[in-house]
Amino acid sequence: MLEQALWIGCKEDMGDVCPQFCRKFQVEREVKAAQLEITAVGVYEACLNGKRVGEFILAPGCTAYKERLQCQTYQLEGVRMGENILTVTVGKGWHRGRISERDTEVNGMPCALIAQLTLEYVDGSRETIVTDESWSVGESPIRFSDIYDGEVYDAGFSGGEWEPVKIEALSRDRLIAQEGEEIREQERIRPVRLFTSPKGERIVDFGQNFAGYLELSVNAPAGTRIVISHGEILDSQGNFYTENYRTAKAVLTYICKEGQQTYKPHFTFFGFRYIRLDEFPMEVDLDCFRGIAIYSSMERTGHIQCSHAGLNRFFENVLWSQRANFIDIPTDCPQRDERMGWLGDAQVFAKTACYNYDSEKFFEKWLRDVRCEQLENGAVPDIVPNFWKTPKASTAWGDAITVIPWQIYQMYGNTRVLEENFEAMKRWVDYITKDSLEPYLWTSGQGAKKLWEKHYGDWLALDAPYGSYRGATDPDFIASAFYAHSTLLLVKAGKVLGKDVSSYETLYENIVKTFRERFGEYSTQTQHVLALQFHLTQDRQKTADALAQMIRENKNRLKTGFVGTPYLLYALSENGYVQSAYDLLLQEEYPSWLYEVNHGATTIWEHWDGIRDDGVLWSSDMNSYNHYAYGSVMDWVYTVAAGIRTDEDAPGFERAVIAPMPDKRLKWLEASVKTRHGEICSKWFWGEEKIRYEITTPVPAAIIIEGKEYQVEPGSYIF
Ligand code: BGC
Repeated sequence: MLEQALWIGCKEDMGDVCPQFCRKFQVEREVKAAQLEITAVGVYEACLNGKRVGEFILAPGCTAYKERLQCQTYQLEGVRMGENILTVTVGKGWHRGRISERDTEVNGMPCALIAQLTLEYVDGSRETIVTDESWSVGESPIRFSDIYDGEVYDAGFSGGEWEPVKIEALSRDRLIAQEGEEIREQERIRPVRLFTSPKGERIVDFGQNFAGYLELSVNAPAGTRIVISHGEILDSQGNFYTENYRTAKAVLTYICKEGQQTYKPHFTFFGFRYIRLDEFPMEVDLDCFRGIAIYSSMERTGHIQCSHAGLNRFFENVLWSQRANFIDIPTDCPQRDERMGWLGDAQVFAKTACYNYDSEKFFEKWLRDVRCEQLENGAVPDIVPNFWKTPKASTAWGDAITVIPWQIYQMYGNTRVLEENFEAMKRWVDYITKDSLEPYLWTSGQGAKKLWEKHYGDWLALDAPYGSYRGATDPDFIASAFYAHSTLLLVKAGKVLGKDVSSYETLYENIVKTFRERFGEYSTQTQHVLALQFHLTQDRQKTADALAQMIRENKNRLKTGFVGTPYLLYALSENGYVQSAYDLLLQEEYPSWLYEVNHGATTIWEHWDGIRDDGVLWSSDMNSYNHYAYGSVMDWVYTVAAGIRTDEDAPGFERAVIAPMPDKRLKWLEASVKTRHGEICSKWFWGEEKIRYEITTPVPAAIIIEGKEYQVEPGSYIF
């Protein structure tokens, strides 16, 4: 790609200032079309004659940069006769910002730009302008920019000297065409309230936690300094709170030019609901601020509504947490000094994600990054891109490499994703086989090891002593259960692809057999859940009965963490305990999904007790209010409550299974999913005497109502 262009950079390092590259060109004949191919080491914003090119925010996006750097192609509008100016400002972004500083190889690369402009004239001739010595570079008004820390913009900066560029000896080998969805500005959010906190801070509330930035409009004299901090929540006293951002400063500093002006940041984003006006020496009114949510441009495909206002708010919260954490890679959270592509979080949320939004392209691209970061020995690291250079893999995190391709295949009927990932899936299973201390299990004797050394266990589960991150479920149990699960998915994928997977079928049988011998007793909720969902228990009913009883005894409250929660309701509803599943879904007391809603959540919290009943916040070291993992229960609502399921043998909704399971405590529930073959809708509501179901399917379906199965052709049906 970009074969004729050279990498250009700055002769002298500009430090924190973002350089602006510039090339003037003359047009003397009528232009039919103009195309710009471009990428940068960092993040860039290109402008033609002062107008932004394209809508991609934080281009070229986030990839495993050591081997993969996306190039974008834009059709340019606005090329004019006479002189034109193409400018490109380059910020640090993920590639050179604080977020990747532990990966010195990637982070240590110099700021660089590579581009090619092709002009196609009406007379049929062509001209190309590439990055080379003919470009110049100077300082931009962006004096500082970092994804974690924010931006400093001097609107009064009148431009420095233009200098010749330096040709950088960087390779083009890692350049690839754009694969993911573009990150774009999406919703605009009006603030709802301006108030003064007990500490005397002036705070603006946007009413919604989201990821993005704010647009500021002010009328001010030149040189006025505006400083704004971002925060997700208020503390128990109602003061601005940023401790949970840890070292991420998340501050905007804007130095005004004269008069009326509008500014929004260029190369940073924040996870926030509130802003604090640290310096704002003028009249404030809410019209000065507008929130802008940014995320990968995916099509919304799923909708759920029901008669319960709290649940509806919860569904909204899941959507907002997905948006905030689907900024080119699936992240844990969008606010603190992390924002990493954590595999465990993505693994548990992928199904919900695919129902809510068309996530096929998003995940396919990220899975390529995952494969690129897979370690030599087959281990799949905990985060991708592996900015922390973690040399280890954890159960339920690394399993993203089997779970997500299978999910994408089920949802979109995409066999390419299985083909592309099959080898990586195999290497993962083989890695486990070699890594274990015992045959047919994945044991590591972790009890004696430090928490961070290997598995995260049932992360944040509540059955461990208060304050512990890892739940009570034995990591060896979880690891062995996921070993079985991943091996089974590998076998299924292999069969779809027509491969010989007989040795993995035998392996799977041996794992199940050995698991049963070794782990015959279950004590935690998560153990019961995994044994049921991964077909490991020998006596399903007994295990399900025991799980339901445990939950009843715990006053209909869950104790599960990242590993158990996504499957918990399924483990109940698929084994005769639909009502118990609803008991958990509708639970209002701590710990529950609605507890968060009742405590004012507008996104999903990392901890069940992110804000305790007494208003006290969970410790500041690990406390995000925008973490989608527990939002993964939403796929149960789509697939069980509304009953819209894929058919494993006819993936991509070529055929569907629609098996709604209502509960009297909800008067009605309605869901729709836009599939590749049209929209499936499922609605139920309680009439005077009985329940009525309304189902529309664009594909042949098995509709299962109260245990009775109807094979139907496309159409609308009432039961
Ligand atoms: C992240 C999690 C992640 C975990 C690994 C945390 O810092 O925010 O969501 O999965 O580390 O245990």
